Amino acid sequence: MAKPLKVGIAGLGTVGAATIRILVGAHNELSARAGRSIEIVAVSARSKGKDRGVDLGAYRWYDDAAEMARDPGVELLVEVMGGSEGMAKAAIEAALALGKPVVTANKALLAAHGPALAALAERNNTTIAFEAAVAGGIPVIKALREALVGNKVTRVSGIMNGTCNYILSRMEAEGLDFAQCLKAAQELGYAEADPTFDVEGFDTAHKLALLTALAFGTEVDSDAVYVEGISGVTPLDLEMAEELGFRIKLLGVAERTAAGIEQRVHPTFVSRQSQLANVMGVTNAVAIEAEPVGTITLVGPGAGGGATASAVVGDIVDLARGNAVTTFGRPSQVLEKPIRAPMQRHEGGYYIRLQVLDRPGAAAIIASRMAERGISLESILQKGREARRNANGSVPVILITYATTELLIRNAVAAIAEDGVLDGTPQVIRIER
Ligand code: NAP
Ligand code: HSE
Repeated sequence: MAKPLKVGIAGLGTVGAATIRILVGAHNELSARAGRSIEIVAVSARSKGKDRGVDLGAYRWYDDAAEMARDPGVELLVEVMGGSEGMAKAAIEAALALGKPVVTANKALLAAHGPALAALAERNNTTIAFEAAVAGGIPVIKALREALVGNKVTRVSGIMNGTCNYILSRMEAEGLDFAQCLKAAQELGYAEADPTFDVEGFDTAHKLALLTALAFGTEVDSDAVYVEGISGVTPLDLEMAEELGFRIKLLGVAERTAAGIEQRVHPTFVSRQSQLANVMGVTNAVAIEAEPVGTITLVGPGAGGGATASAVVGDIVDLARGNAVTTFGRPSQVLEKPIRAPMQRHEGGYYIRLQVLDRPGAAAIIASRMAERGISLESILQKGREARRNANGSVPVILITYATTELLIRNAVAAIAEDGVLDGTPQVIRIER
C-alpha cells in the first residue's frame, strides 16, 4: 500500500465534525478503497474547548488554520470553516502555495475568488475539489466536470438550497410561519452561519455561478447572477400557487440564450405535476440539459452534516487515489469571459399579486396597463374580497400572464403603481412551464 495521506481539517462545525466521523468510522474501508491510509493529523477551529461530539485528542490543534495548512505534516487541507474572506481564504492560499490539494465546501469563497484560486492551484501543480460546495450530497460537480465532458450543456437548473426548500415545504404543508421554519432549519444544521445567504438567494447564486463555470467553460461570474430570495413569499402566495396548480420553489437557472448566458435565482411557480415541484424538504435537485445525452436530473439531500461530509470524503478519497482534476475542469487560462444575458430580456409567464385599493375602475386600469404593453392575461383572481380586505380598504388581486418579457412586466407594474391604485409592494413571481 502507498504511504498514508495526512489530512488537516479546518472547521469543526456541522460539516467538519461529520467528516471526522466518516473518516474515523470507515477508516479501514476508505483506506482499502483509496489504496492508502487516510489519516487526520491536525485540526483547527475557533474554540479549542468546545465539545463537538468527536474525539480530537489524537490530532495536533491549531488556532490558526493557515498555520495548520503550512504544517509540513499536513498534505491535504479540508476547509469547512466558511466565509469568503479571512481565515478560510488565507488557509486555502497557504495550502495551494505549497502545492497541497484542498477540499472545500465553501461556495461563497469559490464564487468570489474561484478563478484566482484555481490559477494559484495550477501554478503549484495542485487542485481544489469542491463537490460539497453545491447541492450537498449530490455529486453534481463530478457529473459536470468529469462524467459529461462529451456533451454540450445548454441549461442547468434546479433547487440548490436545502434551507429554502425546507422552509417553503413546511410553510406550505403545515401552515407554519417563515421564522419558525428558518429556526428549525438552523437547528438541523442546514442554514449558513448567516442565514441571510440562504433566504435572500445568495447561497443559490454562489452555487449556480460555480455550475455555470463548469457547464459552459466560463469564468465564475457571480456578479452576473440575478438574485431574489424567498423572504417576500407570503402564505397567500403559497395558497394561490396551490389553487392554481403550482408550487413555489427557489430555483437557480443558468442557460445559454441568443443574448448570452442568463443566470438567475428567484422564487418560481412550477407546475405541481413537474418533478421539481415534488422535491420537498431539504432535498435538492439539479437538472442538466445537454447534447447528446439529453436531460439528467440528480436528486438528493442538499444540506446537513452527513450529506455534505459524504461529498467531502468523496473528494478526499479521489485525491488520495491520485485523481486530481483541474479545479474547473479546464485550465483556468482557457475559461472564457461570459457574455451576460440581461434579465430584462427574460421571457416567461408571470404571477403578479397586487394589493389594490377597492375602488371602481381599479381593475380596468390594471387590465389596460397590461394590454398597452401587449401582455396577455391568462387569469385575474380576486379571492375572498371581504375576508381579505385590509385596514386600508385594499384587497389582493392576482394576475397570471402568458409569456412576455421581464421588461414589459416591470414597466406595467410600475405604471399601475403610478396610477395610485396600489397599497403596498407588488409581488412578481416567474412561472416555469
Ligand atoms: P459551522 O457549523 O458554523 O462550522 C464552522 C466551523 O468553522 C466551526 O467549527 C468554527 O469554529 C470554524 N470557524 C469559523 N470561522 C473560523 C475562523 N475564523 N477561524 C477558525 N475557525 C473558524 O458551519 P458548517 O455548517 O459546518 O459549514 C462549513 C462550510 O461548509 C461553510 O462554507 C458552508 O457554506 C459549507 N456547507 C455547509 C453545509 C451544511 O449543510 N451545513 C452544506 C454544504 C456546504 P468554532 O466551532 O470553534 O466556532
Ligand atoms: N445552507 C446551505 C443550504 C447548505 O441550505 O443549502 C448547503 O450548501
